[in-house]
Amino acid sequence: MSANQALTIALSKGRILEETLPLLERAGVVPLEDPAKTRKLIIETSRPDVNIVVVRATDVPTYVQHGAAALGVAGKDVLMEHGGAGLYEPLDLGIARCRLMLAGRPEHRPGEERLRIATKFVNIAQRYFAAQGRQVEIIKLYGSMELAPLVGLADYIVDLVDTGNTLKANGLAPLELIAHISSRLVVNKAAMKMQHARIQQLIKALRPAVAPAP
Ligand code: ATP
Ligand code: PRP
Ligand code: MG
Repeated sequence: MSANQALTIALSKGRILEETLPLLERAGVVPLEDPAKTRKLIIETSRPDVNIVVVRATDVPTYVQHGAAALGVAGKDVLMEHGGAGLYEPLDLGIARCRLMLAGRPEHRPGEERLRIATKFVNIAQRYFAAQGRQVEIIKLYGSMELAPLVGLADYIVDLVDTGNTLKANGLAPLELIAHISSRLVVNKAAMKMQHARIQQLIKALRPAVAPAP
């Protein structure tokens, strides 16, 4: 890593890419190919000193932690689950807003045994229930969490909720708010020192593009 090395920004396909590209554009960074369409994973931009890499949403903190990308954009849920080691979080981009919630069937009355919680956010769920002194069994899933309470796999789920349509469509209700979520700009700690001027310039250019909190 040197002061003159190109800056790499890690983004994920889907809503983060869609909502981050307009912010980057306002900061003068425009990809030379459409990252949503190309099969290429490293994409050059209108700024020769800035590249974009496209990775899975949950992998963004890993790439940035290890300095494979100097910067990244990740949901606060993903950052809470990762733990944030090796990362600075200088800017709340205010995009991909949702809530991390405990949810379940409103009529469900759990038995005496330990509550079973299905989620892909194993660490967050563990911390949440431990802080309340509630004994739970966490069941790790990779998606479609809303199914788990319907088929008796779990009593409750910990999942993201935006409009609530997915919960509603499956006869589930939001029960407890765990955290308000939005996407954050993350920066590798070593890169923040080594490439300080260019990273600060980018943060400064992004800040006015960010919508104020609702
Ligand atoms: P993958 O599709 O690779 O499994 P993913 O489902 O985590 O990844 P996205 O759905 O693009 O990827 O979610 C990226 C981030 O957007 C999440 O980490 C979260 O912060 C936010 N997010 C997820 N779902 C919603 C939603 N329904 N509304 C608003 N923001 C959301
Ligand atoms: C996310 C999340 C919920 C849903 C909540 O899924 O995992 O299932 O959005 O949004 P809602 O409250 O507006 O219904 P996503 O759309 O990202 O699909 P995915 O399962 O492919 O991640
Ligand atoms: Mg998703």
